[in-house]
Amino acid sequence: MFIGAIGCEPLQLARVHLENPQSIETYRKAGGYEALRKALTTMSPEEVIAEVKKSALRGRGGAGFPTGMKWGFVPKDSPKPKYVVCNADESEPGSFKDRYLMERDPHMLLEGMLIAAYALGSKTTYIYTRGEYRYLIEIMDRAIAEARAAGIIGDKILGADFSCEIYTHSGAGAYICGEETALLNSLEGLRGHPRMKPPFPAVAGLYGCPTVVNNVETLTAVPDIIKMGGAAYQKLGTEKSGGTKLWSVSGHVNRPGVYELPMGYDDMEKFIMEDCQGISNNRQLKAVIPGGSSVYIMPASDIIGKDVRMDYEGLVVAGSMVGSGGFIVMDETVDVFESTKNLIEFYKHESCGWCTPCREGTDWLVKVFHRIARGEGRPEDAQLLLDLCDNIEGKSFCPLGDAAAWPIQSAIKKFPEDFRRHLTPTATNGREQH
Ligand SMILES: Cc1cc2nc3c(=O)[nH]c(=O)nc-3n(C[C@H](O)[C@H](O)[C@H](O)COP(=O)(O)O)c2cc1C
Ligand code: SF4
Repeated sequence: MFIGAIGCEPLQLARVHLENPQSIETYRKAGGYEALRKALTTMSPEEVIAEVKKSALRGRGGAGFPTGMKWGFVPKDSPKPKYVVCNADESEPGSFKDRYLMERDPHMLLEGMLIAAYALGSKTTYIYTRGEYRYLIEIMDRAIAEARAAGIIGDKILGADFSCEIYTHSGAGAYICGEETALLNSLEGLRGHPRMKPPFPAVAGLYGCPTVVNNVETLTAVPDIIKMGGAAYQKLGTEKSGGTKLWSVSGHVNRPGVYELPMGYDDMEKFIMEDCQGISNNRQLKAVIPGGSSVYIMPASDIIGKDVRMDYEGLVVAGSMVGSGGFIVMDETVDVFESTKNLIEFYKHESCGWCTPCREGTDWLVKVFHRIARGEGRPEDAQLLLDLCDNIEGKSFCPLGDAAAWPIQSAIKKFPEDFRRHLTPTATNGREQH
């Protein structure tokens, strides 16, 4: 498995190959916590936010919302406590970059969180991980203890007039708890259902107080932004999407891994065929899901010879999205009907059941997929699946409903043959009506 940068100097992955990368000594020897010192001793909170705005950093959790703008929404004059919450739920199929950031460089996350807390006037911060990442909590708790012993967490951090605590918290293994408002409910000890927005967390989040929720990769970008300045960070990427981006590459490539690329890396075909060393077993590329399971699937014909630019705008033009950067590569042996069935089973399982279109719709979709898989497909089933998706997309309470519909809609559109094959009546064609 490859972990490293292509087309740029590694920023987020700069220390992952050092000996003992989890220790505070390693981190400090490599310049760690100097960005925090710079922020605390030479910058006002407003200046920190201004640098993050200049950096054109966009949230890496999936939606790509500009981070500086989000931080700017936190009301400065609110008498309530303010919270910074790191979203380390990382439950999207295909995404595994946040795990490596925490496993290999935990102090980078702590430093990013402390700078964010300083900028936002927060004294209490949380790292919320998915249930399966409990082993990472041990790593993060060790790093927190080391930082506390070094005067970097707790009272009067680095001697400055700034005090802050960082706590870890484990979820119980529900994908929906990665959605920021469900996460906040879960953190409060409530059931992990999403909340109505607005109000957005920046105004009324944890315990009804102003809260910024940011992804691990977003927060770990912050120390470099402060170190080099927002403008220099932005220049590493594109005008609208600054910096570098991590891609979790899995599936049928010869060299899967976590790749750090400059935002706007200009050729997805080159990335797959050269950087990831091509398709395994000398097979042909069939499809890529570039941004985790919730985004549109791309056929090879939309990639080969098409100069697909790997950033938010480039991928929309190419018919998909950056999402969480979970880059799933499929070779010619994959039956897209089968891979899509697998995904909808996931979404049905993870639907929190709060709203009817998603709870019932994902269940019906699974029933239809299973009937088709039993050899009881009917020619009209492709349209039936699309109609079901239409009743979920845009009609559900939170984006998980859309995320369930999009892979099916795009799979039927881009790979009609893979569905048609299953929809021709066979000898065992059943009479079951779903
Ligand atoms: C169903 C669902 C699951 C999500 N899972 C995650 C996750 O595991 N990690 C994450 O950072 N964001 C996740 N998000 C996005 C968050 O709601 C939120 O946008 C993000 O944490 C904001 O951080 P960012 O601005 O740094 O990207 C999820 C969203 C949805 C709808
Ligand atoms: S869309 Fe699905 S996950 Fe979201 S609130 Fe409704 S039932 Fe829950």
